[in-house]
Amino acid sequence: MSDIFPKWTNRLPLQLIVAGSLLGLAVVAGVTYYFTPKFTRVGYQPAQPVPFSHAVHAGQLGLDCRYCHHGVEKSWYSNVPSASVCMNCHNQVLREDPRLAPVRESFESGKPLAWIQVHKLPDYVYFNHAVHVNRGVSCVECHGSIHEMDEVYHAKPLSMAFCLSCHRNPAEKLRPLERVTDLDWTWSEDKAESRRQQRLEGAKLAHNWKVESLVNCSACHR
Ligand code: HEC
Ligand code: HEC
Ligand code: HEC
Ligand code: HEC
Ligand code: HEC
Repeated sequence: MSDIFPKWTNRLPLQLIVAGSLLGLAVVAGVTYYFTPKFTRVGYQPAQPVPFSHAVHAGQLGLDCRYCHHGVEKSWYSNVPSASVCMNCHNQVLREDPRLAPVRESFESGKPLAWIQVHKLPDYVYFNHAVHVNRGVSCVECHGSIHEMDEVYHAKPLSMAFCLSCHRNPAEKLRPLERVTDLDWTWSEDKAESRRQQRLEGAKLAHNWKVESLVNCSACHR
């Protein structure tokens, strides 16, 4: 009787257990990878070639975002400034500082600084900065409190669910155009009053600008 099954089958249950637990491990690893910040990108904060601080420049010095990111109102793309913009000031301020050496080199050679892009959508998603910025959607909605960051990190998920949660009812987020780069701005100091105003004034802005709720797939997948 014992010869009906070849001998190697004795080891089969063990192999099944090993294979099974490897599979289990792979699933756990996959799920962990999928939900860690690196994959969802929230918290992603690569080291940059120059320790440029938004907290210093946009926060303390109060430079408007568009001083450097001037493309943001005009095109789909928000540019990162070239070294010549930095040199407007740093030909005087910290002109010998070693932290700014790559900026001076880039200025002289014309070779762009190798900033690492933090926010990036997959190629199959269509996005446009100007459309948002010209409809009273503040940078803070999608990038968080950049003006308080020493190093930029990915603060919001920028997932499809995230985009849709605003697109379903954009009036809740709209603000006057002149406040789009004023990241701390609110309608009122008082939270409850601010919410009330947002409902009232946001609806008016949406009406005046004929803002639609864009939830059809082709809005973002073209
Ligand atoms: C409007 C003027 C102005 C512009 C434009 C400007 N900076 Fe600055 N930057 C300053 C001032 C002022 C300081 C603070 C100097 C100090 O700490 O004594 C500073 C500080 C810095 C520092 C020191 C880091 C720190 O935390 O204090 C770095 C690095 C720097 N800037 C990089 C840049 C780069 C890169 C650009 C271009 C993308 C740029 N700056 C554009 C004025 C400017
Ligand atoms: C003095 C120039 C300057 C000003 C002013 C400035 N930025 Fe920037 N910004 C930069 C530079 C240089 C980088 C690329 C390096 C980095 O990521 O820190 C950058 C990067 C960013 C990024 C990340 C881009 C990416 O890679 O995904 C965002 C978002 C951003 N800025 C938003 C803002 C907002 C919002 C404001 C206004 C509150 C602002 N910036 C003001 C120079 C500036
Ligand atoms: C509705 C959401 C949204 C708003 C509002 C928004 N951004 Fe962005 N931003 C994004 C997304 C999404 C990306 C990544 C785009 C890509 O993949 O090319 C991005 C990328 C950037 C980059 C990196 C560009 C690059 O190629 O390195 C900068 C700089 C930036 N944004 C600045 C700003 C500034 C300044 C404002 C406000 C004036 C702003 N953004 C408002 C969603 C937004
Ligand atoms: C805080 C609100 C808000 C968020 C978040 C947001 N959007 Fe929008 N989006 C708007 C508004 C407002 C409009 C303008 C709608 C109109 O004019 O009818 C718009 C318009 C658009 C358009 C239409 C562009 C065109 O050419 O007509 C696209 C595409 C788009 N958004 C993509 C995205 C993507 C992708 C994301 C996520 C990364 C996103 N949006 C996140 C508010 C938002
Ligand atoms: C407001 C913009 C927007 C609209 C509208 C939208 N999507 Fe997306 N979609 C995105 C973004 C952004 C991503 C990328 C998500 C990421 O990188 O995590 C995405 C990713 C996807 C993916 C890739 C799979 C995934 O989950 O990563 C599929 C499939 C998809 N969308 C299908 C659809 C369908 C079907 C519709 C219509 C019912 C739709 N989308 C409407 C913005 C949008």
